Amino acid sequence: MRAVYLLLCLALARCASASIFRHQLRPHTDSLIVQPLDYVDQYQQHAKETKMHLRGPVSSSEETKERISYDDLNDYASPLRSGDRNWNSPLFSAMITPGEPIPFGDVISWHGVEIATGAKSLVKDKKDIERIFNNAYNNMQHLSEEDKKKIHETFETTTLAANEDVHLNATQLIKKHGYGVEEHVVKTDDGYFLTLFRILPRQVSLEEKPRPVVFLMHGFLGSADEWLLNGPEKSLAYLLSEAGYDVWLGNVRGTTYSRRHVSKHESHPDFWHFSIDEIALHDLPAMIDYTLKTTEQKKLHYVGYSQGSTVFFAWVATHPEVRDKIVSMHALAPMVYMTNVRSPLIRMISPASRFYERIAQELGHGEFKLSKELIQTVGGDMCEKEIGCKHVCSNVNFVMTGVDTAGIDTELIPVIVSHLPGGASTRQIKQFGQAVSSHEFRKYDYGIDINKKIYGLRHPPKYNMTEVKVPVSLYYSEEDWLVHPKDVERLQKELPDVRGTFKVSEKHFSHMDFQFSKKAPEVVYKWLIESIKKTKTY
Ligand SMILES: *[C@@H]1O[C@H](CO)[C@@H](O)[C@H](O)[C@H]1NC(C)=O
Ligand SMILES: *[C@@H]1O[C@H](CO)[C@@H](O)[C@H](O)[C@H]1NC(C)=O
Repeated sequence: MRAVYLLLCLALARCASASIFRHQLRPHTDSLIVQPLDYVDQYQQHAKETKMHLRGPVSSSEETKERISYDDLNDYASPLRSGDRNWNSPLFSAMITPGEPIPFGDVISWHGVEIATGAKSLVKDKKDIERIFNNAYNNMQHLSEEDKKKIHETFETTTLAANEDVHLNATQLIKKHGYGVEEHVVKTDDGYFLTLFRILPRQVSLEEKPRPVVFLMHGFLGSADEWLLNGPEKSLAYLLSEAGYDVWLGNVRGTTYSRRHVSKHESHPDFWHFSIDEIALHDLPAMIDYTLKTTEQKKLHYVGYSQGSTVFFAWVATHPEVRDKIVSMHALAPMVYMTNVRSPLIRMISPASRFYERIAQELGHGEFKLSKELIQTVGGDMCEKEIGCKHVCSNVNFVMTGVDTAGIDTELIPVIVSHLPGGASTRQIKQFGQAVSSHEFRKYDYGIDINKKIYGLRHPPKYNMTEVKVPVSLYYSEEDWLVHPKDVERLQKELPDVRGTFKVSEKHFSHMDFQFSKKAPEVVYKWLIESIKKTKTY
C-alpha cells in the first residue's frame, strides 16, 4: 500500500514539475480553444534545439532541466502515442495533417489564465472567454496566495495517504462505522442490474415498529458513495438512520455499482445509450418498487440530490399516479431548469454554444469521459489558477461544479476524488446542455428527424411540473454553479405542492457542498430531517 502512495506522490510531483516547465515554454493551452497538439511540432523542434545547445559539459541543474523537458514532451505528446487514448478522435486526427503549417497563435490572458488562440481556435477575443467563465468565476471563493500554498502542500505531502476511506466501497464504509448493511440487486425492465444499499440501524430495540423508509438518490456523476463519504456525524445517510429511518441508497445505470446488463457490456457504446429519461422511467420505478416490496411499506420519503431530483420530477410528471408511493420529496440542489447555469462545462455543452460541435465530437456516444486536455479547457485551468491544486482540478466533478475549500475538509478531498466521478452517459450531460438552450425541462433531443420518429414531434415533449402532485421541499444555495436561484424559483412556482423552500444561509456553498460540506448538517440536513418528520407518513 505504501508503495502505491509513493508512486502516486511521485507521479503528482512529476506532473507538477512538467506543468511549471510548460508555463515557461508556452502559454497554457487548451484542447478546444486551441488544440494542444497544434504545438507538438514546434515543441519537438524546440526540444531538439535545447538538446543541441546543451551538448558539451553541462551542469547538473541543466541536466535536470533537459530531462524535465523530455519528460514533458512525452507527457504532452501522449495522446498520439499511448494506447489508451482515442486515436480516432476527430480532435486528434484533425491535427495531424501533414504539410500544413501549425500556427502558434496569440495569447489572451484572463484572470491570470493564459489561453492561446491558434488558427483553429474558437475563441477570438476576451469576451468569448468571459461569456463562458465569468459567472462561475464571480461565484466562487477566491483564495489568498497563502491559502493556496497551504492546500497545495497538504496535498503533495500527507493527506493523500492518510485516509483509508480512499479504498473502501459503500458496503465497507457503512460497516466501518458500526452499521449493518444489505446489498440488493434489482433488474430494470430494459435489462440493467442496479445495486441498492440499505443501512441497518446500529441498535434496534425489539419492540421497534417498522421504520419509515427514506430513499436517497445520488447526483450527476455520483453514486451511493456520496451519501457516505463525509462520515457518521456529517453524512445525511447516517443522520437519517440515527433519526430512526430505514435508509436506502440507489445507484442508477452506469454508475460504479450499476454497470451490468443482461446482454450489453459496459465497454461497448451500446451500454451507454441512455439519457436522463431512461433513468427516470426505468431505473426509478424498478428501485422504488423493489424497496417498497422488500420493506413491506406502501410509501417512502424520497431525497434527490442534483440529478437525483431531475429524474424524480421526470418520473412523476410522466406517471402522476406514482405519487401514491411518495410521502414527501426533498430536492437538494435540483437540476431542472438550467437557463442560468454558471458551470463552464455545462455551458459549453449546450447546443447554442459555439464549442458544442467540437466537444460533442470529442465526447462520442458512449460513456461520458473527458480527456485531460478537455478538463483543462472546460475549467481545470481556471480552477488550478484559483485554488492551486492540480489533484482537485483534474477531477471532473470539481471542475464542473467549483470547489469550496472553506466548506470541505482538506482531508476529505482525496476521498472524494477517489470515489467520484461515479459514471454517466454522454447523453445525460448533453441533455443538461440542451436544457440550457431550450430553457425547458424536456426529454432528450435526438434532432428533428429522429424526434419525429420517437416522439412524433419535431421537438421533444416537456415534462409537466404541474403533474408532480407530491409534497416537495427545495434546498438551494446562492453560489451553486449548476443550480441558479432563479431557476429554482421558476421550478417552485410550477410545482403544485411546495411545502418549503430553503436557501442555504452560508455565503459560499457549492453544488458539492450539499454532500460534503462540514456545515451541511447544520445549514441543510437539520431542516430536511425536520421537514421529513413533519410530513405525516400516512
Ligand atoms: C465491496 O468490497 C468488498 C471487499 O472487496 C466486496 O466483497 C463487496 O462485494 C464490495 N461491494 C460492492 C457493492 O462492490
Ligand atoms: C400540465 O398539467 C396540467 C394539469 O395536470 C394541465 O392542466 C396542463 O395543460 C398541462 N400542461 C401542458 C403543457 O401539457
